[in-house]
Amino acid sequence: MTEIAAKVVSKEALARGVVRMRIAPYQPTDILPAFEAGAHIDIRLPNGLTRSYSLTNVAEATSGNPAAYEIAVGRDANSRGGSQTVHDAVHVGSRLAISAPRNHFKLNPQHQRVLLIAGGIGVTPIYAMAQDLHARGVPFELVYCARSAARMAYLEELRALCGDKLVTHADDEVGAVFDVTSLLSEQRWDGVYVCGPAPLLDQVTATTVGWADGTVVMERFSAPESVAAPGEAFTLALAQSGLETTVSPDESVLDAIERLGVAHPFSCREGICGTCESRVLSGEIDHRCAVLSQAEKDSQTVMMPCVSRCMGEKLTLDL
Ligand code: FES
Repeated sequence: MTEIAAKVVSKEALARGVVRMRIAPYQPTDILPAFEAGAHIDIRLPNGLTRSYSLTNVAEATSGNPAAYEIAVGRDANSRGGSQTVHDAVHVGSRLAISAPRNHFKLNPQHQRVLLIAGGIGVTPIYAMAQDLHARGVPFELVYCARSAARMAYLEELRALCGDKLVTHADDEVGAVFDVTSLLSEQRWDGVYVCGPAPLLDQVTATTVGWADGTVVMERFSAPESVAAPGEAFTLALAQSGLETTVSPDESVLDAIERLGVAHPFSCREGICGTCESRVLSGEIDHRCAVLSQAEKDSQTVMMPCVSRCMGEKLTLDL
């Protein structure tokens, strides 16, 4: 990734197990790129891992370049080193390398009756979307589910933004998880945006089968169950580097890129974060990611090499 030198300028507890951080340019004279609701940045953490985090302060960015990026990070009990590092080893003053914002979870401006559903720390892009919809005067409702009210980040801000259009659900108060199926039993919205854990997204997917394409838009924390067939071997060419190799059926394109000695950014290696996005110059792509929209997949110009493959004999990337 093209890196921006940045530093943490504030860090505070936002809810139980959730910290909020603001990240500003390392050089005060540098300018941060603007962003839209749903955007995220990649952050290279002190332990060398790169992780993606949604930007929450979109209201500060609508009129131009924000002074800082704000993120909120939940401590994940099954952390593979990302959230734990943010909580324990990143402090005010820590220097970080960040990417420019990217957005695979955009609001469709055609949507005029919107439902937002957040599960746990999935509230971060949903909160940014609520700010955007509120600013544009687009009618929306927001459902916010979490294991307990104490874990709900941005709750006061959402109450102020949404008023009686906010529904909260704390599992420990109700004694059950939120019933998405009854919420979505009738289609009252032209846009439904969902971010949260896999069971919530799987339930929404199952309930909205048959709804018009593009109505339900999701951002995932974990890869959906894959039923993709094992891949075939194919030739991988890297145009800029002038390198070529064979990708075996049990190797990913990203693995092959690394085997060739070409450094390429990645985070999840599961096709859900978008960090490894690569431009495709030729070859028929077998898309297996949960990041790109159907239109982006159909364009056959971009892919996530950590999971996606080639259906033909040769794939050429702009690397
Ligand atoms: S590394 Fe996350 S989509 Fe490839």
